[in-house]
Amino acid sequence: MNDTKLRVCPVERAGHLDSGFRKWFQNPRKILRPYIQEGMTVLDFGCGPGFFSIDMAQMVGKSGRVIASDLQEGMLDKLRDKINGTELEKRIYLHKCQKARIGWSEKIDFALAFYVMHEVPNQEDFFRELASMLKPNGQILVVEPPFHVSKSAFNETVKKASAAGFTPEAGPKVIFSKTVILKNG
Ligand SMILES: C[S@@+](CC[C@H](N)C(=O)[O-])C[C@H]1O[C@@H](n2cnc3c(N)ncnc32)[C@H](O)[C@@H]1O
Repeated sequence: MNDTKLRVCPVERAGHLDSGFRKWFQNPRKILRPYIQEGMTVLDFGCGPGFFSIDMAQMVGKSGRVIASDLQEGMLDKLRDKINGTELEKRIYLHKCQKARIGWSEKIDFALAFYVMHEVPNQEDFFRELASMLKPNGQILVVEPPFHVSKSAFNETVKKASAAGFTPEAGPKVIFSKTVILKNG
């Protein structure tokens, strides 16, 4: 994919990502229930203002942990403001990553990549890094939007994940979206 075509979602659009209305058609708990259990360490890659991170933190409970990772400090600030002074502050670790590298060394059970892969410059490198971060039975849920990402672009993403060693399986139904589950190994 050509880097110059990739646009990162601006911080000014954070409000759209975080609207209460979105919960009606993309409910984080319903989508993530089959994949997240209490005590897990999970990654919300490209977390934006944390629409999913908050529910993920409630789902992993006190013994679990969420790494909420984003390229833009402005997005992480939005999430910081939401959890500041709450008990979730101890469970959600805010991590600023690089454009081509996540840079997190702790092993994780599950990763969510929701509406972010089409903004990532080298998807195969990203999948390789994730494979090294995931525990042996770990998995990634990739969800891509309907209009920015064509069927063939999505299939290309799945191919790159397979080249990095993942086994793709049917993902959950998410309205307006394309989904895949990637199993480690
Ligand atoms: C469309 S938003 C989706 C946010 C969130 N996942 C959601 O569904 O509400 C994409 C987010 O991915 C982040 N992003 C883009 N490229 C990235 C990269 N290479 N590494 C980490 N985050 C990235 C952007 O900063 C933005 O916050």
